[in-house]
Amino acid sequence: MKAIEIREKYLKFFEKNGHKVIPSAPLIPENDSSVLFTTAGMQPLVPYLLGNKHPDGTRLTDYQKCLRTNDIEEVGDNRHLTYFEMLGNWSLGDYLKEESIQMSYDFLTKELQIPAGKISVTCFAGDEDCEKDELTASCWKKAGIPEERIYFYGKDDNWWIAGETGPCGPDTEMFYDTGKEPCGPNCQPSCDCGKYVEIWNNVFMEFYKNEDGTYSKLKQKNVDTGMGLERIAFLLQGKETPFDTELFKPVMDELKELSENDNIAS
Ligand code: ALA
Repeated sequence: MKAIEIREKYLKFFEKNGHKVIPSAPLIPENDSSVLFTTAGMQPLVPYLLGNKHPDGTRLTDYQKCLRTNDIEEVGDNRHLTYFEMLGNWSLGDYLKEESIQMSYDFLTKELQIPAGKISVTCFAGDEDCEKDELTASCWKKAGIPEERIYFYGKDDNWWIAGETGPCGPDTEMFYDTGKEPCGPNCQPSCDCGKYVEIWNNVFMEFYKNEDGTYSKLKQKNVDTGMGLERIAFLLQGKETPFDTELFKPVMDELKELSENDNIAS
């Protein structure tokens, strides 16, 4: 499936589920001086996550151009990119965990036809700021993910915030098993070996992190999700990395040819 078809399927699926398709915001944020670039699909939506009414309602979907530099050190492995498109769906005080998880499961297994056995999920383990996310785990079980493929991790893995302060919350991440050999007896989604590739993140954005490090409750409970288009494309195409897909390969081939012909300026 080409990336363009995946994008089309995604928007159609969420449209069918009551979401309004909104356009990608520019890469340079228009009304947000806290970041140089749009690093996530939620960034242009911050005022609405905080409770302002969005003109297109409480269920939105889009594909957002993103430039993310905070994991630039990871670029060069089989999955990290600096520039990517993020497919997203939002509930602005509308649906909650159960519906969000069921829609994600249905999109992955029915629309993209990923065998359920290739999916593992992670949930927030709980700490002094927020309780263990048992509800999310039970929604996954109800949808069809068995207990042995549900993992719990702390804030480093299962908590999402765009910067130092702002809307945030526990998240649940979906991982695709590439079928590679486990790197050891403890190989699991949190591992860096590349066997498991994160494909989607659903953030249950209910908190605001204040400057003094404390958390307040937001006016409304939101869902913010993000799926990297280039990642899901290479996995569905059975390729090794995003660079092997139609999104990058023609450019890479051209660069190779130019460099072999010694035409690239040093
Ligand atoms: N905001 C979340 C992310 O970018 C979905 O991973």
